[in-house]
Amino acid sequence: MIHISIFASGSGSNAENIADYFRGNEDIEVSLIISNRRDAYVHERARKLGIPSVTFSREEFAVGTEIVKKLHEYNIGFIVLAGFLLKVSQPLLDAYPGRIVNIHPALLPAHGGRGMYGDKVHRSVVDAGEKESGITIHYVNEHYDEGNIIFQATCVVETDDTPDDVARKVHLLEYAHYPEVIASLVKKIAEENQQFENK
Ligand code: GRF
Repeated sequence: MIHISIFASGSGSNAENIADYFRGNEDIEVSLIISNRRDAYVHERARKLGIPSVTFSREEFAVGTEIVKKLHEYNIGFIVLAGFLLKVSQPLLDAYPGRIVNIHPALLPAHGGRGMYGDKVHRSVVDAGEKESGITIHYVNEHYDEGNIIFQATCVVETDDTPDDVARKVHLLEYAHYPEVIASLVKKIAEENQQFENK
């Protein structure tokens, strides 16, 4: 069994969708939700899902050690960022090399980087007159939105689309693809662990 932790700062609709997707799965479980905001709606979703959720301060995220301790306590093997707005600090990156992924609601490398989150991304896409947008699932490194890209999917942006219209299309792509991509990455890690144990 590989235990996943989801980091989320806000509503957590992706967190809920991912948790639902893995419910009843014998190999993968969403075991812990972590936020940087005590009032984030994701805690309410976690409560309904029966998944423990905890909050760490911005300082604790910057230092990282308490969070790594908590992740080890829950035997977490893989971390999923879903609408998580803080930078992931080095101790966390070191503790989970190649095992932290993020989803960005546009086609990186465009419309990404520091300060590019939520509605700002969709506004930027519309203002640039893009004909398409989409999602980018990527590994997390020490720079915002710069880790290696794992998967992208696109949607059409019509000339009269508002940022809200684009957000709706992008959310549908997120719900459709993020859980599946996570499943295939985690399966690969489980296979590598197996090979390691068999050696
Ligand atoms: C998603 O669009 C995600 O791609 C972005 O923030 C949004 C979070 O939405 N990074 P939710 O909290 O999962 O509803």
